[in-house]
Amino acid sequence: MVGGGGREHAIAWRLAQDPEPPEIFAAPGNPGIAQVATCIPLSSMDVDALIGFAQGQRIDLTVIGPELPLLAGLVDRFTAAGLAAVGPTAAAAELEGSKAFCKSLLRTHAIPTGEGRVFTEFDKARAHIVAAPGPMVVKADGLCAGKGVVVCDDAAEALAAAERMLVHGVLGPPGRRILIEERLQGEELSVFALTDGEAIYRFGEARDHKRLLDGDKGPNTGGMGAVSPVAGLPEGLLEQVEREILVPIIHALKVEGRPYRGILYAGLMLTPGGPKVLEFNVRFGDPEAQALLPRLEGSFGDALARSVHGGLEGATLSWSPRTAATVVLASPGYPDRPQSGAVLEGLEEAAGPDALVFHAGTALRDGRLVAAGGRVLTVTGLGKDLEAARAAAYRAADRIRFPGVQLRRDIGLKASPAEARA
Ligand code: AMP
Ligand code: GLY
Repeated sequence: MVGGGGREHAIAWRLAQDPEPPEIFAAPGNPGIAQVATCIPLSSMDVDALIGFAQGQRIDLTVIGPELPLLAGLVDRFTAAGLAAVGPTAAAAELEGSKAFCKSLLRTHAIPTGEGRVFTEFDKARAHIVAAPGPMVVKADGLCAGKGVVVCDDAAEALAAAERMLVHGVLGPPGRRILIEERLQGEELSVFALTDGEAIYRFGEARDHKRLLDGDKGPNTGGMGAVSPVAGLPEGLLEQVEREILVPIIHALKVEGRPYRGILYAGLMLTPGGPKVLEFNVRFGDPEAQALLPRLEGSFGDALARSVHGGLEGATLSWSPRTAATVVLASPGYPDRPQSGAVLEGLEEAAGPDALVFHAGTALRDGRLVAAGGRVLTVTGLGKDLEAARAAAYRAADRIRFPGVQLRRDIGLKASPAEARA
């Protein structure tokens, strides 16, 4: 397994629960992952070293957590070396890597999404913004570590965002091309799928909480919590998403000569006109994976292998009826200036049959577990319903001693980020 965050801990932990658990090596892993895998000190971006290791150890299957190695062509390189790696090629990963490519593919194949246009010149962007009828969202084309999307209330905000990206270059090359999109209203939903390029297995849904503070206040983060499944979805909605969005996008990528394999994450807005695509990611979400995977039953490793070798329709997976609520414990100063180094205690008391503690940014220093990053731990509570899952998650989170910890108290409470913003 490639990666070393909370999502990767959940993936490795879940693989270790398989009916025939594999022997797992993690590069680089983290102290939590080390409970279920052998961690090896290789960067997730050091493709040559990863290939050398996989060949030396005769690794059967490599699972990649984060998007950056996928965009850098890790799957292409592994495949060329005769190794099986789960996930899309670099060309297919452009679905996440370029918002302009994604939007053009969606429009060409008539897949539901907001209106959007791509600009590299500020003058043209300005003319478009001034003439546009409603609020807009300005997005850097490339990956910007969560800083590339500006949701604007009015034209003045959109102009300022476009100017910062195109004229001042504050986001660097990824922001020198922008997508200006109509701002959609509704509730957000993340829907996951696993595909071998032909068959699609719908891999559950989750709702992320992106803002730092309760009530969807404060700055955007990588995600402060998630719940799965999402209660109260309209009857047939997930089937509609599969029919109108998942099947057509996999088909579209095939037609474009970029066949897609692996996990696909559709970020959707549930608008009055039906579900529309906000973005695709080419991997599991973090912290969505920590809410999804504890509910998965059956052989995860077999299903992932089938996404590489084909025959996904033969996978035997099912879902526990329990609800999962995941709460992120973040360092003081996160997201702008996270302070590392706080000593973490109480993790053993926190974990139990209804509570899982996944390490995100932790390290061992002089034999003590310390915070080493922005998002430090994620705690998943499981219960018969959302209330029970929340109670289990917060009971566990409150047993962890972490000076200056930031966490949201309202994970799963509000139905709609859009409502909370209004
Ligand atoms: P993205 O990385 O494209 O998913 O954007 C990050 C967040 O910005 C999303 O989760 C939404 O909350 C918001 N967002 C993105 N695009 C739109 C849009 N067209 N309308 C409203 N909100 C959006
Ligand atoms: N939690 C959002 C993401 O993983 O992209």
